Amino acid sequence: MTPKYLSGTLAPVPDEIDAHGLTVDGALPEELTGRYFRNGPNPRPGEDPGHWFAGHGMLHGVRLRDGRAEWYRNRWVRTKLFTENAPFVGENGVDLAAVSANTHVVRHSGRILALVESGFPYEVTPELDTVGPVDFGGRLTTAMTAHPKQDPLTGELHFFGYGFFPPYLTYHRLSAGGELVESRQIEVPGPTMMHDFAVTEHHLVWLDLPVVFRLERGGMPYAWEDDYGARIGVTPRAGGPTRWFEVDPCYVFHVGNAWEDAHGRIVLNAARYTRDRFTPLWDEIGSEADPAASAAASGAAVLHRWTLDPATGVAKEEPLDDRNVEFPTFNEDLLGRQSRYLYTVGEDSLVKYDQRDGSSQVRKTGGDTGEAVFVPAEGASAEDEGWLLSVVTAGDSSRLLVLDARDLSDVASVRLPRRVPAGFHGSWLGEE
Ligand SMILES: [Fe+2]
Repeated sequence: MTPKYLSGTLAPVPDEIDAHGLTVDGALPEELTGRYFRNGPNPRPGEDPGHWFAGHGMLHGVRLRDGRAEWYRNRWVRTKLFTENAPFVGENGVDLAAVSANTHVVRHSGRILALVESGFPYEVTPELDTVGPVDFGGRLTTAMTAHPKQDPLTGELHFFGYGFFPPYLTYHRLSAGGELVESRQIEVPGPTMMHDFAVTEHHLVWLDLPVVFRLERGGMPYAWEDDYGARIGVTPRAGGPTRWFEVDPCYVFHVGNAWEDAHGRIVLNAARYTRDRFTPLWDEIGSEADPAASAAASGAAVLHRWTLDPATGVAKEEPLDDRNVEFPTFNEDLLGRQSRYLYTVGEDSLVKYDQRDGSSQVRKTGGDTGEAVFVPAEGASAEDEGWLLSVVTAGDSSRLLVLDARDLSDVASVRLPRRVPAGFHGSWLGEE
């Protein structure tokens, strides 16, 4: 039986192609000039990596310019795992370049980086050719999360690396110029799967949750362990001890925005899984079972808010909705500062939340729906003035959907020359 992670919307494509002069329905805004890149696992033909998360990273790119969709191309990231089948753990220890680079693609200080949380980033060109692994001149000695955060005011890139062995968690900071200027160990009780974090104006926010690594498990060696407990940590960016807040046990892959409110409390929004939701999902992600993949994969978390009060040491918890959503995104010009809107992916739909009045809008897309990347309009006067870009797949065809983020109405739709397998994260890279 074909494993679920090689079937349906997750089925890999067999090769790399280029296509030019794509058909556009509707009218692409001329100012949307740049590149939309998206990453995701794509094993080679005949290859079974044993888990959805383990497939080689493949980047899909769409070049938009002056109202036209100039090209689409897809390329595997040429990691040491891809080209040499190099072992992650070998005679000389862990090789942080022997990874899949399959989770996200971001640009910082002019460098485009394909990311996976188990190892080093891989630099790629604007044409998606692989340059090679990046360790910032030898200064990076841990893995790098796939979810770094760029401070919109300072241009610094904040990130972390987690490891199976001590130090379990290390915070890193790149200057706006791309130099690794700080690495700092953060004390946690054990090795957990820490997929994302948050950054506010003055703090770093850690999710130390009970999905724990055990070497002896083999395969994808993480599982829920009640005994680990669950806590959220707040560390001053400027340095100093981490303050931990006990929270109800849960798991989080993805945070939305976080900020400090007028009372100095930390507000954190995220797509949250309970144990009852996480455990079956985790079992299913790597399984050979029923191929109704992505609805379930995006269908178990709900939007949740924690408000952490340093004055009392107490975390207030509140669900913000009861719908199943994942992949929260927002206008990153407001990263770390209070923001109003969150964009999420529901079942064959996008859901926009207004966190000020508690309302939401649902936009059905007619297909399996990817993360919605928000692109602000030039000179925008409102937080949601801009576009959402999302890859939507129905049957064997995919398109890049461009919506007006204010009301989720259609702006344009780019017909892609092939099906794009359901994947993880992407970025809009505007002209520099
Ligand atoms: Fe992610």
